[in-house]
Amino acid sequence: MWSQTVSFRAKLLSTFTTFIYALAALAAPGISDDSFDVLNYVDPLIGTANGGHVFAGATLPFGMAKAVADTRGENQAGFAYDTTVVTGFSHMHDSGTGGSPSMGNFPIFPHPNCPDDDINKCKWQQSDRAVPWKKKSPVARPGYFGISLQNGVDAEMTTTNRSALYRFTFEDTSPEALSPLILVDLIDLPQSRLNGTADVDRSTGRLMGNGTFNPSFGIGSYDLHFCVDFKGAKLRDTGTWARNRANTSRDTVSFYADGTNTASTLSAGTFARFHSPKDKSILVRVGVSFISVKQACSNADREQPNFDFAGTVSAAESAWRKKLDVISVNADGVSSDLQKVFWSGAYRTLISPQDYTGENPLWKSDEPYYDSYYCIWDSFRSIHPLLTLIDLPSQSLMMRSLIDIYRHTGYLPDCRMSLCKGFTQGGSNADVVVADAYLKKVPGVDWDTAYKAVVKDAEVEPANWNVEGRGGLHSWKNLGYIPTDDYDPYGIGTHTRSISRTVEYAYNDFCIAEMAQRMGHHDDYKKYAARSGNWAHVFKADQTSSIRGISTNFTGFLQPRYPNGTWGYQDPIFCSPLLNFTSCYLNPDGHETYEGSSWLYTFYAPHDMGFLIKTLGGPKAFTSRLTYLHDSGLLYVGDEQAFLTIYQFHYSGRPALSARRSHFYIPSQFNTTVAGIAGNDDSGAMGSFVVLSMMGLWPVPGQDVYLITPPYFKEVSIRNSVTGKVATIRNINFDPRYRSIYIQSAKRNGNPWKQNWITHDFFAEGGLLELELGASESDWGTHLEDLPPSLNHYHT
Ligand SMILES: *[C@@H]1O[C@H](CO)[C@@H](O)[C@H](O)[C@H]1NC(C)=O
Ligand SMILES: *[C@@H]1O[C@H](CO)[C@@H](O)[C@H](O)[C@H]1NC(C)=O
Ligand SMILES: *[C@@H]1O[C@H](CO)[C@@H](O)[C@H](O)[C@H]1NC(C)=O
Ligand SMILES: *[C@@H]1O[C@H](CO)[C@@H](O)[C@H](O)[C@H]1NC(C)=O
Ligand SMILES: *[C@@H]1O[C@H](CO)[C@@H](O)[C@H](O)[C@H]1NC(C)=O
Ligand SMILES: *[C@@H]1O[C@H](CO)[C@@H](O)[C@H](O)[C@H]1NC(C)=O
Ligand SMILES: *[C@@H]1O[C@H](CO)[C@@H](O)[C@H](O)[C@H]1NC(C)=O
Ligand SMILES: *[C@@H]1O[C@H](CO)[C@@H](O)[C@H](O)[C@H]1NC(C)=O
Repeated sequence: MWSQTVSFRAKLLSTFTTFIYALAALAAPGISDDSFDVLNYVDPLIGTANGGHVFAGATLPFGMAKAVADTRGENQAGFAYDTTVVTGFSHMHDSGTGGSPSMGNFPIFPHPNCPDDDINKCKWQQSDRAVPWKKKSPVARPGYFGISLQNGVDAEMTTTNRSALYRFTFEDTSPEALSPLILVDLIDLPQSRLNGTADVDRSTGRLMGNGTFNPSFGIGSYDLHFCVDFKGAKLRDTGTWARNRANTSRDTVSFYADGTNTASTLSAGTFARFHSPKDKSILVRVGVSFISVKQACSNADREQPNFDFAGTVSAAESAWRKKLDVISVNADGVSSDLQKVFWSGAYRTLISPQDYTGENPLWKSDEPYYDSYYCIWDSFRSIHPLLTLIDLPSQSLMMRSLIDIYRHTGYLPDCRMSLCKGFTQGGSNADVVVADAYLKKVPGVDWDTAYKAVVKDAEVEPANWNVEGRGGLHSWKNLGYIPTDDYDPYGIGTHTRSISRTVEYAYNDFCIAEMAQRMGHHDDYKKYAARSGNWAHVFKADQTSSIRGISTNFTGFLQPRYPNGTWGYQDPIFCSPLLNFTSCYLNPDGHETYEGSSWLYTFYAPHDMGFLIKTLGGPKAFTSRLTYLHDSGLLYVGDEQAFLTIYQFHYSGRPALSARRSHFYIPSQFNTTVAGIAGNDDSGAMGSFVVLSMMGLWPVPGQDVYLITPPYFKEVSIRNSVTGKVATIRNINFDPRYRSIYIQSAKRNGNPWKQNWITHDFFAEGGLLELELGASESDWGTHLEDLPPSLNHYHT
């Protein structure tokens, strides 16, 4: 069986491979080590327990079809390791998301036979048919997922872009007793179905149908279609079923939201039953489409005409190897676990958003269409900056698709899934993604339209700012902050998060200012640069903060402000892990900060660090406050706003402390266990965080700035997939025990490099950055002239 081959190979590798030295074939032809297969270092099960919500199943990079076993429990991505029963196998998922479960439409389920060969004795509906899965049976590899069920079914699956292929092997049943029955259920994981239809073709056994469902974190509804074909056994009979009753004389079952029997929890569908298969296994191919049943069938026919399971797995593996091949590391001395943390993180960054080009029924366009930007509030900080480095062609297609969404819906999304508008969590952070791509010269983008899109975010309040744009723009322009208890008759949205929205809008405006400056819109530059200073209007200089009655001795925090300028109050530690951690979610009872404390948001002025440091009492006070944030338990690294704070010591001239802090979180919070990520992965946010951290260059999103820390490897190289140029970061005196993690001196292409940051041209043009390491902090990168840019100057 496939799974045995896989584990045998993995075991061989871990036993005999003490170190791996891989170089991209293009960078150094002939030197690559054949024993290195990057896929042995990708473990899709990392982050599948304890709320990580990582998608563990089979998918191509950014593939639309994502096949996995759906389990009962916290099944946001279908399968979760901390569950016991499988309810079906479905073909569409998202990865790492919070909120409610996503998609999981039209699950199929195999029965080896029905008791007494009576279809009405089979268990049909979702809650009754669930079967325990065998512990330790899940095998997950890029492009492959396998799991064994206690009913004797071994389930394996793989995918192409728009179809899934399942192989069900019936282990514990004698061939004479076998009469496999495969059902399809018109249900989805969130149980959101509004209407649905299923048909069966009784001559071929083909199962077809469609349904209307709700998105998991947004508004509206979407239609999806499926087409199921079988191979490997002779068709016996077909029919329909609802709840726990089936009928072989009917071919169609339908439910409509306006009719009876419409509960979205109702399980019903069609089925095909077979004579005993020759080799105890049956292949099930499922095509999916947002356009029509016809297109679902043609997607499957085109992408896998031959039901070639091994061939489909191997095509998926090649696609994954090719994607990951742009990164190469010298892993000499680095533990196999840490290498797995790294490569698995890169893998997870390449799962979403999904490429639905040609599958968008909402508008006609020649532009690409990507979906499941879930959500940009999470992805702007590390996912898109990493994609710009390791998959520029895809980042370009995503940018074009974002701009096309603006063209056809009127706004850039902050979150979007299943063809629907998703909820906005803070600012209009697509502005950051757009500016980041502009500064890094992502090719193929219509920048004039992109600029119109970001200006619209800044100027025109939408009717429903829960799902796009910004709320409170009247106050933003007139008062210079988002007030608590705002008066806003111009649009509808959730009036919480006045502090976090203020600092995010300020940074969004800065990103627009950067574009305006370079595009020659000088008046806009002045306007948005000025507005980017608005964060300071919610800084209350005399606000103190205590923890359990003991003063933290830091003064000055962001606080809510009423429209009349009077201060409100929110305890600066409120919504940190130390106080009411879960009280700042996205609902009308949320408070003035979003998923974090005022303590945390007080550090968010990424464009104006000079002024922020001055405001907080100078570099020494800033450093001790930032240290306190990390040491006190006030910070949760499982939410994305934490990322930048790990590296902000660079701004107070202490790059060594950023390096030390990065090792404080990796691997203690990021490891190879199934619970090995902090928080939800959020479409690869945690994965990209760990990759960028281990590469040693932290991108400040929305700026042409990478903060330099030593890589976790002796050497890391990134090959630009468009130009072929290679950028290499090399540690001199590399210490795999990570005691020497402090940069003593640096050279770029042989010349001294004193700045503690570097710009994107390093990656665009290629080159060599050499970092000489030592066991203690040096004065490298600590001087005023070494610090990253700031809108207002640093003060000594
Ligand atoms: C899958 O889609 C990607 C684009 O997202 C494309 O580059 C790739 O060639 C497709 N794979 C196959 C096998 O069609
Ligand atoms: C399904 O439900 C949606 C939403 O209620 C409705 O707009 C659509 O027309 C329905 N489709 C069919 C085919 O009944
Ligand atoms: C679903 O299929 C039924 C039957 O073929 C059809 O009447 C209906 O319009 C389809 N719904 C959608 C949303 O395509
Ligand atoms: C099965 O379907 C046929 C055809 O629609 C119908 O005549 C028959 O009554 C159904 N049987 C049951 C038990 O519902
Ligand atoms: C704040 O300062 C006081 C007086 O120096 C000290 O006793 C106290 O421990 C400090 N609080 C913290 C949290 O460090
Ligand atoms: C400002 O508004 C707040 C909230 O409505 C109110 O409590 C406060 O008294 C007002 N302050 C002034 C100076 O009017
Ligand atoms: C804070 O949490 C406590 C329970 O831990 C709860 O009673 C209280 O209502 C919460 N406060 C707010 C403002 O959410
Ligand atoms: C692995 O990471 C998880 C999630 O951050 C953490 O809770 C756990 O303690 C870590 N385990 C180890 C052995 O470091």
